[in-house]
Amino acid sequence: WSVKGYPLKGPRGDITGGIVVTLDITERKKAEEKIQKFNRELLRMNEELKSVDRIKNEFLSNLGHELKTPLSSVIGYSELLDSLTLGELNEVQKKACESIYRNAEKLRRLIDSLLYLSYVNSGKIEYNFELMHISSSIDEALAKVSRKLEDKSITVDKRISHNLSFINAEPEKIQELLYNILDNAIKFSYEGGKIEICAYVHEEKMLKIEITDYGIGIPSDKLDDLFALFHQIDGSMNRRYGGTGVGLYICKNIVMAHNGSIWITSQEGKGTTIHVLLPLKGKQSDRKEYINFPDN
Ligand SMILES: Nc1ncnc2c1ncn2[C@@H]1O[C@H](COP(=O)(O)OP(=O)(O)O)[C@@H](O)[C@H]1O
Ligand SMILES: [Mg+2]
Repeated sequence: WSVKGYPLKGPRGDITGGIVVTLDITERKKAEEKIQKFNRELLRMNEELKSVDRIKNEFLSNLGHELKTPLSSVIGYSELLDSLTLGELNEVQKKACESIYRNAEKLRRLIDSLLYLSYVNSGKIEYNFELMHISSSIDEALAKVSRKLEDKSITVDKRISHNLSFINAEPEKIQELLYNILDNAIKFSYEGGKIEICAYVHEEKMLKIEITDYGIGIPSDKLDDLFALFHQIDGSMNRRYGGTGVGLYICKNIVMAHNGSIWITSQEGKGTTIHVLLPLKGKQSDRKEYINFPDN
């Protein structure tokens, strides 16, 4: 019960009587207790979810490593067979071998994306910055996609400005960035198409990289969401072109970690350009840094 008293005053201010109000607050108390119980439950569930998330990320990371070990042997041996180091192959055997290699390579990329996501989700990803030149990264990324380029008879036009200075970046991550962009450019190009890669100094302080394809392009109302995790333009496209919708999310994370920016311009049916800005010769940071990513 809640009991409250109010004095009643006469015309000269003297107390002439009083009112006592008694309220049955059993229901309110019950409701308050319910809310408190509910809050405690929510807190407990939140803790539980956090630990499930931790376990999930650990599991993904372990699974990734476990899958990669046997896969490297598949890739290694199919490469050896394909290069004829282990003896001659007839045409059919060579085709089979190429197919094993290509698909195993695809699987490896998928596992790498999975691992990357588990690192990003656990909030910590390791970056080893060093002063590096972009042209070697571009060449290495191009070497990684050379087979795909050949398969679709796509030519690459590369224009790297000579006055480019260094960037403070992690070579492996920059390669990953360029690989993902090139992979899309090839995937969404037509047979016999062309890809242009430009790198030049932008407003004295920035390195500008533009990767252009003349493929299917992107409708203008779809441009904004593409960097979100698992985002692909639509399901039927997904079936037609494959992929998981992780590539551009990874690209954005990498560029952000380097204090840069990334955006897309595109014309449906004409082609797409991915623009990347990275600070040139940024201030030297420690060799090892941990970076927390905000959610996309
Ligand atoms: N060069 C491009 N041309 C046309 N569409 C593109 C291009 N790059 C990306 N996209 C669109 O953005 C989506 C997300 O790309 P990404 O994150 O790399 O995922 P994935 O390649 O696995 O589908 C693609 O599915 C596609 O719809
Ligand atoms: Mg992709």
